[in-house]
Amino acid sequence: MNFTVLVVDDEKNIREGLGEYLRLDGYDVSLASDGKEGLKEVESGAVDLVITDLRMPALSGGELLKQISSRYPSIPVIVLTGHGTVEDAVDAMRNGAYDFITKPVNLEHLSLLVKRALERKELARRNDELMREIENQKRVSSIVGKSPAIQRIFELVRKVAPTKASVLITGESGVGKELVADALHNLSPRADKPFIKLHCAALAESLLESELFGHEKGSFTGAQARKKGRFELAHEGTLFLDEIGEINQNVQIKILRVLQEKKFERVGGEDSLEVDVRVIAATNRDLKEEIQKGSFREDLYYRLNVVNIHVPPLRERKDDIPLLAQAFLQEFADDNAKAIEGFDPKARAAIYAYHWPGNVRELRNCIESAVVMAASKLISLDDLPPGVRKSADESVVRIPIGSSISDAERILIRDTLAAQGGNKSRTAEILGIGRKTLYQKIQDYGLEAEEPD
Ligand SMILES: Nc1ncnc2c1ncn2[C@@H]1O[C@H](COP(=O)(O)OP(=O)(O)OP(=O)(O)O)[C@@H](O)[C@H]1O
Ligand SMILES: [Mg+2]
Repeated sequence: MNFTVLVVDDEKNIREGLGEYLRLDGYDVSLASDGKEGLKEVESGAVDLVITDLRMPALSGGELLKQISSRYPSIPVIVLTGHGTVEDAVDAMRNGAYDFITKPVNLEHLSLLVKRALERKELARRNDELMREIENQKRVSSIVGKSPAIQRIFELVRKVAPTKASVLITGESGVGKELVADALHNLSPRADKPFIKLHCAALAESLLESELFGHEKGSFTGAQARKKGRFELAHEGTLFLDEIGEINQNVQIKILRVLQEKKFERVGGEDSLEVDVRVIAATNRDLKEEIQKGSFREDLYYRLNVVNIHVPPLRERKDDIPLLAQAFLQEFADDNAKAIEGFDPKARAAIYAYHWPGNVRELRNCIESAVVMAASKLISLDDLPPGVRKSADESVVRIPIGSSISDAERILIRDTLAAQGGNKSRTAEILGIGRKTLYQKIQDYGLEAEEPD
């Protein structure tokens, strides 16, 4: 990256002489003959460092320095002072100058100062970037999970969040689609702008339209004042359209138009409003099927589905269950001020074996009620809802088509082990292999880390 140094001095010879020298040093240089011109240059956003004389017409160097240090504190300013004017130098330093240099200018000294100031600035910028990244990771981490499926989703979220691409999040109810939408917004450059959510299924058609696009006063009975719609409120930010599969054709056309033309009118209004909105939508329906049936517009589908993030059901990423269960246990134990440490082996096996048709939401509710029920430090089978409790006796190992023999062996061992609450002797017995062989396989498949005792 090439840095731009601005030299501000009313004396043409000095200005151009310094400029020439700095160019030889490899910087881009811009020149200004007074503070006012200099400030304009700084405001244009293209300046990395300023060297300024103090006494100038229009706007003095001292004034320029004050403006820059209050409005652009990351731009270092080096002040040129006359010989023997110590007060000027002190004043400048007090007002936020990076350093001062006396005239006549020692060019080598100046060159060194500029280099150091820019290095420090670059370091500060990198630090900021790093802090932002850590901040971001904290934000994403409200999504708990370590299965390959969730890892892939993390990766995808990181990749598409910074873009403006529309994202369609699909998956069964309760899998965490809304959390993914949150992460997409929080990791985007729009994070500080509005994040507006609309649950499309909850509203009747006429209300939905006015929620989305707003309405003018008197546009329908009950419209007593002008109201801004969600698209307007989300300007420069993100709009999350939840349950997009539930909206009718009429509203579909209108949303399509906003996506295509970035324009719309309030209900009962004539003026076109222009907005800059990133749209994220979610659905638990199979929209392809809805298109076949004629209930969802294909063109809208393609506009929304620029990137698809599919969140698989919990039963297809069982590796996440122990982690999620533990996270929810901690959350609710804290909420209820109960000192609960974990699950006893049978409870853990049942939670693991259960099919979780309601996905993470159901798991969360289950753990909440278990925490409330629990009478000891460990949650036991009796604390679990009946459906989950029953799965303890009817556990099945599911091996997806497409698995290799070694995949199958890994899943078989993993799930049997979990169903036995981590008891290796019993697991070896059930599998009909020696304990030593089991230990070896557990190590080979890296299962120890996944299902701790
Ligand atoms: N990976 C996860 N880590 C932590 N909590 C999760 C995770 N996935 C889902 N949850 C929690 O489960 C609940 C349901 O998640 P969410 O509302 O995002 O699901 P959804 O897919 O939007 O469901 P629906 O289709 O019913 O709207 C929420 O309380 C959410 O915080
Ligand atoms: Mg949801």
